[in-house]
Amino acid sequence: MSETFLAEAGSRSAAIEAFRPSPSFRLRVGIVGCGQVSEHHMRAMAPLIWRGRVVISALIDPNAERRRALFSLIASEVSHPPRPIEASDLSDILEAVDECLDAVLIAVPHDLHESVAASALRAGVHVLLEKPLAPTLAACDRLASVVDESVDNGLLVVSEQSAHWPEVTACVQLIARGAIGRVVSVQADYFESMAATVFGGADPFNLGWRRSRARAGGGVVIDGGLHWIRPLRLLLGAEPEEVVAVTSNAFPELEMEGETLAHAILRTHDDRLATFRAAVSGRGAVAHTAAPFLRVTGQVGELVISGTGLLPGGGGLRLFAPHLPSEGEEQLAPSERRGFCAAFEGMWAEFVHIVETGDRAAAHANVRAARTDVAIALAMYDSARQRSWVRLGCSGEKKAEGGRLVRSAWRVASVMGVVAVAATASVLLFSPRSTSCISAHLHKASDLLNGRMKRGR
Ligand SMILES: NC(=O)c1ccc[n+]([C@@H]2O[C@H](COP(=O)([O-])OP(=O)(O)OC[C@H]3O[C@@H](n4cnc5c(N)ncnc54)[C@H](O)[C@@H]3O)[C@@H](O)[C@H]2O)c1
Repeated sequence: MSETFLAEAGSRSAAIEAFRPSPSFRLRVGIVGCGQVSEHHMRAMAPLIWRGRVVISALIDPNAERRRALFSLIASEVSHPPRPIEASDLSDILEAVDECLDAVLIAVPHDLHESVAASALRAGVHVLLEKPLAPTLAACDRLASVVDESVDNGLLVVSEQSAHWPEVTACVQLIARGAIGRVVSVQADYFESMAATVFGGADPFNLGWRRSRARAGGGVVIDGGLHWIRPLRLLLGAEPEEVVAVTSNAFPELEMEGETLAHAILRTHDDRLATFRAAVSGRGAVAHTAAPFLRVTGQVGELVISGTGLLPGGGGLRLFAPHLPSEGEEQLAPSERRGFCAAFEGMWAEFVHIVETGDRAAAHANVRAARTDVAIALAMYDSARQRSWVRLGCSGEKKAEGGRLVRSAWRVASVMGVVAVAATASVLLFSPRSTSCISAHLHKASDLLNGRMKRGR
């Protein structure tokens, strides 16, 4: 048991008393990781707290200062909130789960997502887990399977607020109504400067655990970039099947092991194209208000989402169609132009609804979508490393298997010196579930052999 919890053991029963189950629905939420993003969650939860739907019952972070700062924020948003139980580690509080905790928001470094979320789920606590689901697909799958280990385990929902980004949801509806015809292309551009970010914390230039590739799982793509991958998928209207990416470390002042700049092209099975660009700079300025963040091209018009709402200028969604003025027509009333940060509220409403109704299907769908975001980010990394296109149809469970089998096919082909042998062996050995996987294995075997021949080995 941590020192923090022991030190407060005297007042513990009094604290717990405030969080006894209530006859009306009231979700007792613990916040695990009281860092910068938890402040945004806190503000988004405030309306739920005012309405008595949610109460913050625990603050868990090894850093006592951060716990205190978050409590001050709660106190500034909500009058006379009950004092949450404090602990430095979730395991300290799990023994008191029945008395004080129904759900947790987990907002800790990426390498801790799996272990912290799994322990909460196994204790029967519902989890809203910050993105990414986990930094590897194997970890994503292990974590997703914890939910189904027992009916007593909690439900898992991944916090990807961009699915609730007001401009994005309005854009999806306009596309469904045929406002721009068939979507053929999406451009997703995420540029953030630590000099102007609202996610910077007290020392925005010290990215802490994010500097470590092992802790973060990569750089800007798997971190902030993920919030642009989800809208890209929603707006494109079909899942990307192939991706090619280039990454670089363009802003060395941030001392990141992972990339600070990435460009990618994605293609769907029916030839819709998307570009994805992500950058996190240090002290440089970025065109937050002027440049579009998402641009959707249809066969008869375009939709442009600009401004994240993080900075003055707000959000906004403009429709360009033949019958409209050339500068495009704003589709949202000023009060609806709320930008990316407003999306936290929709996400909390979804989480509370899933928990309240016990909607396992909705929770599973949410986790599957979050896993695909990670698969796309990791495919970008694979592509950048291999300097080639990567097929997404085989991401995840098929990818590891495919990689192993392609390697053995390559060895056979090296001996025989014939590409056809690799192709035949692939088909015979793999028994793949989909033709796209067969073709990916064949492409890969062929590429490997071609590369080898070119290098003259
Ligand atoms: N949704 C968004 O827009 C958004 C924005 C920023 C960050 N995030 C995500 O939120 C998560 C946290 O990022 P952040 O920027 O807030 O990081 P941060 O470094 O500001 O905060 C992380 C906090 O976790 C605490 N912590 C570390 N280990 C812990 C443990 N075992 N138990 C409890 N607390 C622990 C740290 O002391 C720190 O206070 C990451 O998954 C990140 O990708 C999401």
